[in-house]
Amino acid sequence: MATEGREIDRGEWSSKVGFILAAAGSAIGLGNIWRFPYVTGQNGGAAFLILYLVCVLLIGVPVMIAELTIGRYSRKNPVGAFGAIKPGSWWKIVGYLGVLTGVCILSYYTVMAGYTIGYIVKTLIGNETSFSAFTSNGRLAIPLFLLFSVLTVLVVQGGIRNGIERWAKILMPLLLLLLVLLIIRSVTLEGAGRGLAFYFKPDFGKVTGKTVLAALGQAFFSLSLGMGAMITYGSYLSKRDNIVTSGCYVALFDTMIAVMAGLIIFPALFAMNMNPAEGPGLVFEVLPRIFPQLPAGNIIGAAFFLLLSIAALTSTISLLEVATAYLVDEKHWLRRRAVWIVAGLSFCLGLPSALSQGIVPALAELPLPGGGSFLGFMDWLFANVMLAVGAILISIFFGWVWKMKAAAEEIRTGNPRVGRLLLVLDIMLRFVCPILILVVLVYLFISV
Ligand code: TRP
Repeated sequence: MATEGREIDRGEWSSKVGFILAAAGSAIGLGNIWRFPYVTGQNGGAAFLILYLVCVLLIGVPVMIAELTIGRYSRKNPVGAFGAIKPGSWWKIVGYLGVLTGVCILSYYTVMAGYTIGYIVKTLIGNETSFSAFTSNGRLAIPLFLLFSVLTVLVVQGGIRNGIERWAKILMPLLLLLLVLLIIRSVTLEGAGRGLAFYFKPDFGKVTGKTVLAALGQAFFSLSLGMGAMITYGSYLSKRDNIVTSGCYVALFDTMIAVMAGLIIFPALFAMNMNPAEGPGLVFEVLPRIFPQLPAGNIIGAAFFLLLSIAALTSTISLLEVATAYLVDEKHWLRRRAVWIVAGLSFCLGLPSALSQGIVPALAELPLPGGGSFLGFMDWLFANVMLAVGAILISIFFGWVWKMKAAAEEIRTGNPRVGRLLLVLDIMLRFVCPILILVVLVYLFISV
């Protein structure tokens, strides 16, 4: 993994394209194809879509650039990065929070990712069990969860270039192709028009504080922001690369894939008279009903779930990489040891989530926010609350502690002509992002 004599033991992306694909690989995952459609469906469709796009643009992109800049400047994991920029300060805690959030998101995300692997075979053999029957079968759900955890470990163990980057380069373009195919099928179904109207014709009467909260949470989750994943990925970015354009490409690709997923789900859903607000099972219930309408539908369906598993894998990789980078950089652990121990921990933490989907009924009816299941609670706490808390702290750190004056030099490296954009970015990170996120967080706590 030597890279021209620099950064020999940490590793570096081989090129800007390599970075963009790996970072887009982290961003694009179940968040786009599983979470985005069901959250959009629950929040009324088009109006949510618009709010989501506003959140990505106003808050997501600036925080993305802030994270990448912190990472590339310090060349460190989140804990080390805050420590390097403000030595001896309590800002390191933000890094620790990120490591913790990463492990916790990884724990339940891998459970869902396991389901997608199961659906490859299920679709291929034309098995018609319902989603809830599938997830409540412990003999399937737990081994699949374990399998996915091991797959993640094997890639992350391979390191930056040979592990993460190589796989992202092959797999992301393939996913795009299959999505296009499914969109064509879905929008040409009879009755697809009502789905398109639901998705594109906004009804702002349906917007409440909760909608805004869901849109912001979805933006952080989907862009992999708020816990230092992009600090870590930025730390492997070459000084020759342009942080601003790289970050914008990642946000653009991620948003494009989410919008495309909606274009598959909603037309099909309305064509089949299903309920858009059905919740987390949505994608797993709708898609298996479109595939039989395609020639060789079970093969196309299996291919789809295969690529979805792969998209999930490039995301679990980044979730595992943050804690791994921390242990390798700060505690000088061997990469292999760090990876297995963190993944083992996350697996144990994920077991109650896996059991909460029908295997142990008590875990599905907890008096907690997030819909009552343990998995729902973890998602609420870490994806909605902790990512927002992380993102607000990161923008305050960047705007008020490190300050644009110091950060500007790093942003200019590889991008000498940023000019006035820096001023816009500064205003966003100092005022717009912290204030908007704070409003949403306050609302979150008064509405629990
Ligand atoms: N963004 C991924 C998705 O949409 C999930 C993810 C990967 C993530 N790494 C992250 C979310 C870091 C938050 C933080 O599926």
